[in-house]
Amino acid sequence: MRVITLAGSPRYPSRSAALLSLCQQALEQRGAEVIPWNLHNFHPEDLLYARFDSPALLALKEDLAVADGLIIATPVYKASFSGALKTLLDLLPERALEHKVVLPLATGGTIAHMLAVDYALKPVLNALKAQEVLHGVFAEDPQITNYDRQPELSPVLAARIAESVDTFWHALARRRQPLAAVV
Ligand SMILES: Cc1cc2nc3c(=O)[nH]c(=O)nc-3n(C[C@H](O)[C@H](O)[C@H](O)COP(=O)(O)O)c2cc1C
Repeated sequence: MRVITLAGSPRYPSRSAALLSLCQQALEQRGAEVIPWNLHNFHPEDLLYARFDSPALLALKEDLAVADGLIIATPVYKASFSGALKTLLDLLPERALEHKVVLPLATGGTIAHMLAVDYALKPVLNALKAQEVLHGVFAEDPQITNYDRQPELSPVLAARIAESVDTFWHALARRRQPLAAVV
């Protein structure tokens, strides 16, 4: 299995990126190949000026084309996902997530915005034709400590992440393959 992780925080290190690192470890223990991407792989001007031919964007599109799944993480900014992440998603082809299973993760300061993934991010993932978008995980800031070194999760969050990785893994196994890959 080949999985892309995409960290959507303008900051690094970051809490949402820390969640992705933990997911990566869990998937690699199962034998998956995980290719980590984050916004810092892109020149800000390429995103702001919508340079569809920038080398980093072309490389991400190539990685996505051969991936089985995507785990995408974002901080909640102003009750939505980060605007910086949107500048990148805007540049992906219309069917960039076709045939892929997607697990969305979000971190935020208040549970009042825990539905941001559902009402803001999921519609965009669906617009990119994701085959299956799984239930997301929302983490409140105090549930993630030490995220700039060795991230530690509260027991409740750790259990939710473990369960979500497990669900993601099973969804990858049953996903509908592109026709070209079957014949
Ligand atoms: C500009 C900005 C806007 C934010 N807006 C919200 C918000 O509307 N709702 C919320 O729950 N948290 C909000 N937060 C808090 C972040 O979502 C939270 O600290 C998050 O965990 C940061 O993730 P990161 O470390 O991956 O960047 C905001 C933070 C910043 C810097």
